[in-house]
Amino acid sequence: MTPPSPPRLRALRHVGLRTTAFEESIEFYQGPWGLTLVERDENIAYLRATGPEHHVLELHRSQVNGLHHIAFAATGPAEVDAAAEWVRAEGARILEEPGRVDRPGGGYAFRFADFENRVLEISAETFAVPEQNVEAPVPRKVAHCVLNTTDIDAAVAFYTRLLGLRVSDWSERQMVFLRTNPDHHVIAFNQHGWAAPNHVAYEVGGLDAFMRTIGRLKVAGHETAWGPGRHGPGDNAFAYYIDPAGLVPEVTAEVLQIDEQTWQPRVWPRTPEMSDLFRTAGPPSPYVREHMGGVADPGWV
Ligand SMILES: [Fe+2]
Repeated sequence: MTPPSPPRLRALRHVGLRTTAFEESIEFYQGPWGLTLVERDENIAYLRATGPEHHVLELHRSQVNGLHHIAFAATGPAEVDAAAEWVRAEGARILEEPGRVDRPGGGYAFRFADFENRVLEISAETFAVPEQNVEAPVPRKVAHCVLNTTDIDAAVAFYTRLLGLRVSDWSERQMVFLRTNPDHHVIAFNQHGWAAPNHVAYEVGGLDAFMRTIGRLKVAGHETAWGPGRHGPGDNAFAYYIDPAGLVPEVTAEVLQIDEQTWQPRVWPRTPEMSDLFRTAGPPSPYVREHMGGVADPGWV
């Protein structure tokens, strides 16, 4: 039986990255970045924020930088099963059938490939973790993941139809911002010459925590690659860095909360005053743009 509608995903759980600087990146993300290493082996590391997820970042040792997978939350196994049937009926390639997960964090999940061979996971009933102070000036969750795509219209079609995400805003025809809960975006796409992860953003509990995070990184020798500033689309404060592998993490705060009943997507002109509401950051440098562009990622399957 085909379910009648796309899944209603509750949140972005975690992002897995393939990294060419595995050990150095573990040191960076559990050091000045402020995550906690909860488990690792020779090739995979799991890092936790202060929020309820078992982990928000997986690092996978690799010869090439890229995306490993993105995990979204459903509320229970029945929703996971229904989501699997939905994406299968829509023609997506199932990579792992729904079932109990024998990986750190546990849960009940399935995996499938998107139209550019990115691996997506939908899971439920993951392990509870000890409560921590989510107001501390360290990441409490993954706020969003931005992906470079060769076809932004195909990306919108796939992620709205198969995953039930909604368009929150456009940045001209260059970027599109997609939500699955009140956060303005959990996924965004950037039109580009190839598929690749553009950046992963980590949320802290407000502007004070945001500035303290920038300060901690600065004291540890890490200057911002772009920012601090405040984006027009999403209204979130931003500061971008380059990690030891050349991948781009962002610290963010105060992302716009959307009322599902009344929201109307807009198109933001890519002008300096609309791109950075603080007017502190200036335009991104060729250096940070090159790192956000990444290298062509065929997917890991
Ligand atoms: Fe971002």
